[in-house]
Amino acid sequence: MTRSALAVARPNIALIKYWGKRDRDRNLPATGSLSLTLSGMSTRTRVTFRDDLPQDHLVLDGQLASPEAHARVIRVLDQVRRLSGITTPAEVFSDNDFPTAAGLASSASGMAALAVAASRAAGLDLDLGTLAGLARMGSGSAPRSLLGGLVWLPRGEDPEGLDCVPQCLHPPEEVPWGLVMAWTGRGPKAVGSTDGMEHTRLSSPYYDAWLDQSRRDLEQALVHARALDLSALGPLVEANAFAMHACALAARPPLRYWNGTTLAVMDQVLVLRRSGLRGWMTIDAGPHVKVLCPREDAETWAEALARVPGVLEVRQEVPGPGVEAAP
Ligand code: PMV
Repeated sequence: MTRSALAVARPNIALIKYWGKRDRDRNLPATGSLSLTLSGMSTRTRVTFRDDLPQDHLVLDGQLASPEAHARVIRVLDQVRRLSGITTPAEVFSDNDFPTAAGLASSASGMAALAVAASRAAGLDLDLGTLAGLARMGSGSAPRSLLGGLVWLPRGEDPEGLDCVPQCLHPPEEVPWGLVMAWTGRGPKAVGSTDGMEHTRLSSPYYDAWLDQSRRDLEQALVHARALDLSALGPLVEANAFAMHACALAARPPLRYWNGTTLAVMDQVLVLRRSGLRGWMTIDAGPHVKVLCPREDAETWAEALARVPGVLEVRQEVPGPGVEAAP
């Protein structure tokens, strides 16, 4: 018997970051987060349960999955098998139309697409909370990519994560903002998010301060996000990203995701802002800089950031939809 389903999901960029886990086994976040799902990049994942396969077979971007990616995917597939009673192996083909694992949230779109494709291939019609739990087994930020637009993922208090379910604050068509991404390096990041968070938790003297600050940032950010007040939200977004990196930089040994071009782009952002342009930067576990700005200013930001020496490519993004399933 063969059962197959396809799903398409987009990356999301955190405006208020998740950095740290409250439960490693269940992959539950120590902080709530706020994000914007993008539109111009996507992961397409097809899952087929086949009883003629000797074992699970995973092909990511045309190549056999790395042991680390393999382990994450299997966690999601095993959970789908538990929920559905299916015992056969699965074949997974997943393709990103953007670079994998370079601080561009490919794990979020990949795991959101996998959760939906695998559960539908297994004949399950899951609610959002259960899908979020599935996606989270692969990546903590993945539940946010299930939804479009401006998304809040609460930290939750429930030990099983039942209240760690994403909520859409505004669908993509209501959010008049753009995100300009300046790519400052190629290839996978040196330290993945899971290891980076854990290293930070265990060795940064600022970890507890980060958790406190992040909770306060999120509280305020939710008010401004609901009001779509970019001038109030932007400075919080920027400060929150720098606080996350400050906490990671203080780990021992330090965790530094930036390169020289990252700093040059930061300088340029400040120069442009002083000249009156509205836009605020955020940086994930990688060297790229993303600027949140009014949609009508995205072109101006993109042109200016493309001129910074060392910037490889600049991409303009607008808010995009949540995960989409196909048969
Ligand atoms: O979901 P992960 O394990 O890829 O971690 C995401 C970490 C950050 O991108 C740095 C922050 C976030 O909230 O997306």
